[in-house]
Amino acid sequence: MKFTLVGTDLHSKARLGQVETAHGTIETPIFMPVGTVGTVKAVQQRELQTDIDAQIILGNTYHLFLRPGLPILEKAGGLHRFMNWNGPILTDSGGYQVYSLAGTRKIKEEGVTFRSHIDGSKHTFTPEGVMDIQRSIGADIIMAFDECPPYPCDFRYARESLDMTHRWLKRCCDRFDTTSGRYGYEQTLFPIVQGGVYPELRRHSAETIAALGREGNAIGGLSVGEPTEQMYEMTELVCDILPTDKPRYLMGVGTPANILEAIALGVDMFDCVMPTRNARNGMLFTTQGIMNMRNEKWKNDFTPLDEGLGGHVSTTYSRAYVRHLFASKEMLGPQIASIHNLTFYLWLVREARRHIQEGTFLAWKNQMVEQLMRRL
Ligand code: GUN
Repeated sequence: MKFTLVGTDLHSKARLGQVETAHGTIETPIFMPVGTVGTVKAVQQRELQTDIDAQIILGNTYHLFLRPGLPILEKAGGLHRFMNWNGPILTDSGGYQVYSLAGTRKIKEEGVTFRSHIDGSKHTFTPEGVMDIQRSIGADIIMAFDECPPYPCDFRYARESLDMTHRWLKRCCDRFDTTSGRYGYEQTLFPIVQGGVYPELRRHSAETIAALGREGNAIGGLSVGEPTEQMYEMTELVCDILPTDKPRYLMGVGTPANILEAIALGVDMFDCVMPTRNARNGMLFTTQGIMNMRNEKWKNDFTPLDEGLGGHVSTTYSRAYVRHLFASKEMLGPQIASIHNLTFYLWLVREARRHIQEGTFLAWKNQMVEQLMRRL
């Protein structure tokens, strides 16, 4: 993998970059649609490519390991081939899903033992095992196995958790560096900064991870319930320490406003279930603000979902039609809404890149943050 820092904004810490992977080049800042189990829910791979213009998607080790499982993924020749997505893929390590999804779990130095949320079966994830699993899945970018402490979390727990995450990280690097890709292309490992909302822990974690000199770095443990201001403070503190010549990935963030603010602090990569999850509940992000398609208000509105956006579904289908689909619980409602919301998120980061390039990012961002979060 190769990262090229193409430029830096003069009025903020926003950056323009390019990440070259074995499956293609990603322009940053970028948003990565979440495809947990080998599908971006309700969206076909062809639509990801054509309508949405996704450049990289995300998969989850935890889910893919449980179902379909490694024998099937290996037989298919890896996740790219299994799901027919030939672009870049990043997999999260399970260091988050184990805590948020699995049933009873025990965290020990060796790893985490948990019960599957699907059938209750018992499994253990270790740093080494999770590297091997992500080698088998075949993602271009794989994530270190970490503990994402809850919020709130006392200082002592956050410190002990962070120390363990760092010891696990060393084990991840050792395993990753002594194995190779199964499918004939290179993969890369991103470490994850943790430390809760404690500046000294965040600083220590960012310095530890910066010193490793990996090809990219991630910031985890945020957007877990802490006040938004604290999320920005931690993000800024960590971005100011992480190397400038490596991409920075803020995990699980966020709203359109969160993404723009974090770009201004120097973040390059994002993922979040919000555009797809909210779409399935009838909530659309548009260039003018947020629309709830279950609302009676759209019943007689025959204008397109969002003319400002471009893209097939957003300019073709009317608000009245999509409201009707949701009112009738038709499957096409969530499908159209998911494509629309992802088209919007990819539009948002494309516009951010354009404004960084033109030197107008800060003023544009300040106007958009207010505009995009309005309720229509
Ligand atoms: N996704 C969102 N936050 C996190 C985190 O802290 N760790 C991991 N592994 N994934 C995440």
